[in-house]
Amino acid sequence: MASDLQHIRSYYSPNDLYNRIIEGLDKLGKNLATITLDDLQPVDEFHIRGDAATRELIALAKFTPDMHILDVGCGIGGSTRRLSRQTGCRVTGIDLSEAYIDTARRLTRLLAMERVEFHACSALELPFEDRSFDGVWSLQMNMNVEDKLAWLAETCRVIKPGGRAIFYEVCGNKNTPLHFPVPWAQDSSMSFLLPPQSFRDQLTLAGFEIEVWNDKTDLARSAFSDVTAPVGEPDLPILGVYLLVGDDIQAKAYNLHRNLDEERVSLIEAVAVKPAC
Ligand SMILES: C[S@@+](CC[C@H](N)C(=O)[O-])C[C@H]1O[C@@H](n2cnc3c(N)ncnc32)[C@H](O)[C@@H]1O
Repeated sequence: MASDLQHIRSYYSPNDLYNRIIEGLDKLGKNLATITLDDLQPVDEFHIRGDAATRELIALAKFTPDMHILDVGCGIGGSTRRLSRQTGCRVTGIDLSEAYIDTARRLTRLLAMERVEFHACSALELPFEDRSFDGVWSLQMNMNVEDKLAWLAETCRVIKPGGRAIFYEVCGNKNTPLHFPVPWAQDSSMSFLLPPQSFRDQLTLAGFEIEVWNDKTDLARSAFSDVTAPVGEPDLPILGVYLLVGDDIQAKAYNLHRNLDEERVSLIEAVAVKPAC
């Protein structure tokens, strides 16, 4: 794994993550033998609008049970599992963080989902043959990737011709710089945002054709409209994405709110297709 990714990997490497989630479930009175996707949803869907967005993207993707889909930057696998459960497709998730992949595997075992598997690796060096997957699913990972073209070309390489790739991505906007920290980065050394049109150009250069391109910034802004500046000790729920990236999550959410309101970040969803040969 390239050493320049180490600080990003460290950011996404909390201690004892699986056990902390299990303790949280316990405190909430959940029975581990009958745990559901919904029980995990407060902690395992680490993207703007969480499960509501996942369900909309599943409808957009039109993946079918015979397909094998690659989830690039899967985190602890919340949307990976939801995608498989709802469509019946087989899904392989990859992520840079070994801590996240270990947790993803153990949660998936708890749910006895045999069509979902995980590997720890970089999205820039996927350990798969050309044309291995029927489609790709990638939710809010691009922000940590400096070389977008290398990542997107690598993604395009592993899809079969005619395959569809779903992207749900935070991009830059008219104004810079960002307020830090944000949920995906402690500081500017880990955050690489392109304005939406430049991100779209990179997709095309990597070999994709754009089938759907929707600006979701207004929805993101509404989702964060009530977030206020944190005061005093953090008031954290039993389960939440702070378990993934630290107790300063309220400051990160507040900065995301400001960045959205001040047109420093935007949110897009896209369906990109690898042309049939
Ligand atoms: C904001 S989280 C989103 C996780 C997941 N897609 C979700 O929606 O719950 C970003 C994820 O991208 C992963 N990531 C960042 N850079 C990566 C890279 N170069 N290769 C693979 N994963 C990466 C991080 O480890 C993290 O899990």
